[in-house]
Amino acid sequence: MAFKTSARAKPQEKNSPDAQSISRALLRWYDRHARELPWRVGPEAREQGVRAERYAVWLSEIMLQQTTVATVAPRYAAFLKRWPTVAAMAAAPVDDILGQWAGLGYYARARNLHKCAIEVAKRGGFPESESELRELPGIGAYTAAAIAAIAFDKRAVVVDGNVERIISRLFMIDIPLTAAKTLIKEYAETIWPSKRSGDFAQGLMDLGANVCRPKAPTCLLCPITKHCAAQQAGVAEAYPVRPAKKPKSQRVGAVFALINARGEMLFERRPDKGLLGGMLGLPGTAWTEELNREAKSAAPVNATWEKLGAITHTFTHFHLMLDVYAATAPKGTRKNTDQRWIKPDEARVPTVMKKAVRLVCEAKQYDG
Ligand code: ADE
Repeated sequence: MAFKTSARAKPQEKNSPDAQSISRALLRWYDRHARELPWRVGPEAREQGVRAERYAVWLSEIMLQQTTVATVAPRYAAFLKRWPTVAAMAAAPVDDILGQWAGLGYYARARNLHKCAIEVAKRGGFPESESELRELPGIGAYTAAAIAAIAFDKRAVVVDGNVERIISRLFMIDIPLTAAKTLIKEYAETIWPSKRSGDFAQGLMDLGANVCRPKAPTCLLCPITKHCAAQQAGVAEAYPVRPAKKPKSQRVGAVFALINARGEMLFERRPDKGLLGGMLGLPGTAWTEELNREAKSAAPVNATWEKLGAITHTFTHFHLMLDVYAATAPKGTRKNTDQRWIKPDEARVPTVMKKAVRLVCEAKQYDG
């Protein structure tokens, strides 16, 4: 599908003045405001050019796949204590790894963690490039980029949900996320620095977690606010744009309120399958785009049916309009096994049916 976008132009070249100004501002902010996380090196060590240990980066990135930082932090420490090196983890029985993994999500990730440790121990260490990292068990495109950038300082463009949000605001990308992934990566590429790539990635992650949040972003605290097209237009929170909702279709139908001499109405159980399955309702037609046959042929009995009006109701995927008919039950009317006579105010029925029952009661000045 082709989309038009009013996105701000990408910086013309990598390392353009705009791109440099963005990466410098973000890295300066990261130096002051980085979250202290157990797999990261602290600011002083970072200043000396010390990088996080590759085993620690790999372990944390695998644990952080689909699990929050708050959940992972204490669990990461326990893993590292029990298996301080990749060789120690490779030598452990897989059941020990699975036991330690409890509460961290899919066990397939723990199995891959162990398989990867064995593979890395066999190779004598982690490969450094994104493409070689991707060959290892449990390492997809995102994790390979994160490890290459954070552990090996490679210029790898790391795009997670936080980074997607920041880039879509920075460049006002008017395409919903699901369709914009490639474009967002291209935009991210243009501002990605060749030095301190891992710090830049983690700076964006921290900015997304603490400042450029999905709701109520604190743009006043953002180090790159003056570069942010969405913020300059006063619409940061509206990005990433949400997919347009499909218009709801319209359906029509009819229901029939048969009233007996005791003032009870005839209700019937709806079929188990389908909308409002198994619930009580007034007898009626199917709900279709057009009423394709005489509605009264769906009436429960032959009687003098009077059309009292119509009600409308909106379901998740469609709007419904139901014509509402009422009649007095002829003498000798028999109900079938799926039907029950109930006083209208005692009937426990879904909202759409309540609306129809209320219309009948009001029209007939009748309260059951
Ligand atoms: N989520 C995934 N990797 C992360 C990291 N290195 N720091 C913070 N959050 C993360």
